[in-house]
Amino acid sequence: MALLGERRHADDERTDEAGASGHPGAPGPRVPTGRATTADGLGRAARIGPGEQVGPSWPGAQGGASGLTELLSRTGREATSSVIRDLLDWTRRPDMLSLAGGIPAAELLPVERVGQAVERVLADRGPAALQYGPTDGEAELRALVAPTPDRGDEVVITTGSQQSLDLLARVLLDPGDVVAVESPSYLGALSAFRAAGARLLPVAGDVGGLDTDRLEAALAAGARPKAVYVVPEFANPTGATLTAARRRHLAALAERHRFVIIEDDPYGALRFAGPPLAPLADLTPMAVRLGTASKTLAPGLRVGWALLPEWLRGPVVRAKQAVDLHTSTLDQLVVADVLADAVFLNDHLDRLRAVYGRRARALGAALARLGGGRFTVDPPAGGMFLCAGLAPALGLTADALLPAALDAGVAFVPGSAFLVDPAEAPAATGGADTDRCDGERRLRLCFATLDEDGLAEAVERLVAAVDRAVG
Ligand SMILES: Cc1ncc(COP(=O)(O)O)c(C=O)c1O
Repeated sequence: MALLGERRHADDERTDEAGASGHPGAPGPRVPTGRATTADGLGRAARIGPGEQVGPSWPGAQGGASGLTELLSRTGREATSSVIRDLLDWTRRPDMLSLAGGIPAAELLPVERVGQAVERVLADRGPAALQYGPTDGEAELRALVAPTPDRGDEVVITTGSQQSLDLLARVLLDPGDVVAVESPSYLGALSAFRAAGARLLPVAGDVGGLDTDRLEAALAAGARPKAVYVVPEFANPTGATLTAARRRHLAALAERHRFVIIEDDPYGALRFAGPPLAPLADLTPMAVRLGTASKTLAPGLRVGWALLPEWLRGPVVRAKQAVDLHTSTLDQLVVADVLADAVFLNDHLDRLRAVYGRRARALGAALARLGGGRFTVDPPAGGMFLCAGLAPALGLTADALLPAALDAGVAFVPGSAFLVDPAEAPAATGGADTDRCDGERRLRLCFATLDEDGLAEAVERLVAAVDRAVG
């Protein structure tokens, strides 16, 4: 079965459109291939998580049926819409317990408070809330998300941090330039760098985040990255937190070797264990720090931000101008209204941290209690993901486990989806990524969207699937 044969993505909870084939040889949803299924006739994207979208599926979109693909640019030809499309069909099954999502818990989205903000913004601002605005964003929001209110000028508001990644790729990378990434890494970032023609240098990490010694070895072996991408807090997919020592090491390497650190931090406010650590942007001017309202307020608002050094601000703003002129004025003002409400915000964040913390602990405990040594677990200190490993003695990869898991009624995303293909890497790597097998044994488990009972049941199903898969 080639669940991962095509690089495509899917979503569980919110899916607008059918994927391609079902999983052969097992019961489950099957959907027709190559047919548009949405009202607009074009087919819309569906996702298992942000940056993991299913691409367009109208006839001829993926291949040569129309004979017109020669009109596509390199980007148009090469933009794979990523992994695991078939998972979409499976996660829709009513009896499926999905750990495959990468989205916040629906019941924790602040529907009421956002509704009040919309009303208030429209009442107070009138037409201005619906008007074009400055490309770098609304001043009041920039001041609110800056490290201190007087540093708002250093911020550019973006349409989610995914757009920050895309814009940085556009202004930093020429085809062939190297970006070092922690392996495994957030797929949406890999896609943005690939779209710019970058070569990806995977650097293995562990529970302490990207292994900066390996990065240093790759640099010594001749690797010349223009940028290093890290998710320092509770990374997607690993759940790892970059240690304070590695942050300092990475900052020093960036200054010595002149590369930009892209510090992508969507999850930092969701810390439910351990003390906070200094962001990389506090340690070196070589770091560009990205934030978003997606995980703390709501991803549908599509509001993110980038804290940029002066030399990058102008290029990023000009690139954004060409892409979307600016992020929705109304959405920015709504986010500003909510962020300025400290009483609401603190309560809301406390609640998110409490619920996600409980769920993460419940999932970790269930894996330990019910797993009987089948899984290794690195408990995350925050965020939405727990990365479990299949015990090496099982001789089982996560890809090989997936069909049995889906049959058993539980979905997850296999680690292989987040790995860089060795063929994509530049010649000089200094053995930076020698742990590919470890990545292939990993399961990304999102604990955000199931309650404690659901998580325990999901683990029981996983255990049954492992036993079936090892036969
Ligand atoms: C590490 C990481 N970066 C960026 C994003 C994109 O988030 P946004 O909704 O702000 O575009 C995600 C979403 O899951 C993510 O996990």
